[in-house]
Amino acid sequence: MDIIHSVSALRERLQRVPNNVFVPTMGNLHDGHIQLINIAKPRAACTVVSIFVNRLQFGPREDFDRYPRTFESDCNRLRQAGVDVVFAPDEKEIYPEPQTFVVEPSDLQHILDGAARPGHFRGVATVVLKLFNMVSPHSAIFGKKDYQQYIVLRDMVRQFALPIEIIPAETVRAPDGLALSSRNAYLTPEERREAPRLYQVLRKAQAEIAAGVRDFQRIELHGMSELADSIWKPDYVTVRRQSDLRAPTPQDRELVVLAAARLGRTRLIDNVEVMLR
Ligand code: PAF
Repeated sequence: MDIIHSVSALRERLQRVPNNVFVPTMGNLHDGHIQLINIAKPRAACTVVSIFVNRLQFGPREDFDRYPRTFESDCNRLRQAGVDVVFAPDEKEIYPEPQTFVVEPSDLQHILDGAARPGHFRGVATVVLKLFNMVSPHSAIFGKKDYQQYIVLRDMVRQFALPIEIIPAETVRAPDGLALSSRNAYLTPEERREAPRLYQVLRKAQAEIAAGVRDFQRIELHGMSELADSIWKPDYVTVRRQSDLRAPTPQDRELVVLAAARLGRTRLIDNVEVMLR
């Protein structure tokens, strides 16, 4: 496994391979990332993983400095997973000068997580476009746990006609249902015991919709109050259509229930898809 820090060395290394598949990460890797790599590996001659904590996607009161940097153990996991190239640039390599040109996603960037985290999706789209230009992958894998991120990036690739296939990957969960996330490490033991409730609320909503309930507002309110009744501070529990995360019309068959809520100091997100027959 080659560990590369500069864009020029990366380009030179990748010139030698016919195609590559890309998994962008911010490090602090868990089994969810390894699942992305397992999906990636059979798809190309070379699997590239980036590790870069992107300041641009963190708000002023968010956890950029607190974000765990675990480079050594990340590299060990990536080596074991059979990754070919790790691209680990420092900040100067990605942002040698202040980033004055940015990718401005559609209005989608202002709803749901974008409402709670202004500028977040602009930061994500900007760094991912830059990374795509550095890695030139023919496909890239993104987890569906960050559903809105996946939709924003899928749309970016389509709108800019980038020759990259975006492949969504299913969320990986702990045995008790909690979606794996780097943020889970911030939970106290008591919060960790409580955390699976988020998925339980989503599963209940999913079951109600699948059973024919169409009063989505009531489903959303139930979910919100179930969280608020325990120690959570919910941001949203909402039923949307998968295609653009807008409110569903009666014709929409492909839905997703998304939730975000704060548990102590940690904000968790999760979602479940629902296909109507
Ligand atoms: O999902 C993440 O880890 C980040 O948002 C990404 C896609 C690596 C961009 O910094």
